[in-house]
Amino acid sequence: MIGGNDCTSTVNDELKMSNFFDVVEKRRSIRKYKDIEIPDEHITRMLEAARLAPSTNNTQSWRYIVVKDPDTIRLLSLVAGRQKFIENSKAVIIATANRAASCCPNNASMWHVQDTMIATEHLVLAATALGYGSCWVAMLDSRNSQNIAEVKQALRIPETVDVVALVTLGVPDEIPSSRFTKELNEIAFSEAYGFSWNT
Ligand SMILES: Cc1cc2nc3c(=O)[nH]c(=O)nc-3n(C[C@H](O)[C@H](O)[C@H](O)COP(=O)(O)O)c2cc1C
Repeated sequence: MIGGNDCTSTVNDELKMSNFFDVVEKRRSIRKYKDIEIPDEHITRMLEAARLAPSTNNTQSWRYIVVKDPDTIRLLSLVAGRQKFIENSKAVIIATANRAASCCPNNASMWHVQDTMIATEHLVLAATALGYGSCWVAMLDSRNSQNIAEVKQALRIPETVDVVALVTLGVPDEIPSSRFTKELNEIAFSEAYGFSWNT
């Protein structure tokens, strides 16, 4: 566990963990949550993990909005393609990327978005380490969607800031079934593409 304090008693003890590889292996997308609040201290720990992520030229263009208000969470659920489970999360963290803070805002590589995605995975792993379930929800093409415009207006997100993703959070109330994962030799190569990395 990375964030020991009194509030941790609300979280499933079995899920608390400190070993990096345990955290990576245990992380799953969780879409069902118990009716238990998340202490702000824990959300702060997650945000701190995001804050320490690497970024292009150290631009740190990620910006996070923590949403707990049920009406706003309902709006987010709607905008994210009416994914009902979002409404039951105890908090939603909106990951946004500040184009204006990017070193090269017009670069096709969208570095500010790449940076934000890396930092957001830090946040997701920190949530796992603290015993919370999370689910990454895609919010791509944020500049073209009418619904996203509504969210941006409601949450006062400036025009120069792109909405990258939502992360739902809560104490897990499900054990997800095992999912298909590719073998290492399908995704890792040695010296040239297609030559499997064999250990
Ligand atoms: C970029 C991205 C977008 C995703 N969008 C959604 C989404 O909109 N709704 C959802 O329920 N899960 C979403 N997921 C979660 C994936 O479905 C999930 O990671 C995948 O099925 C593997 O399962 P696991 O996370 O439990 O390992 C998203 C994941 C990523 C990385």
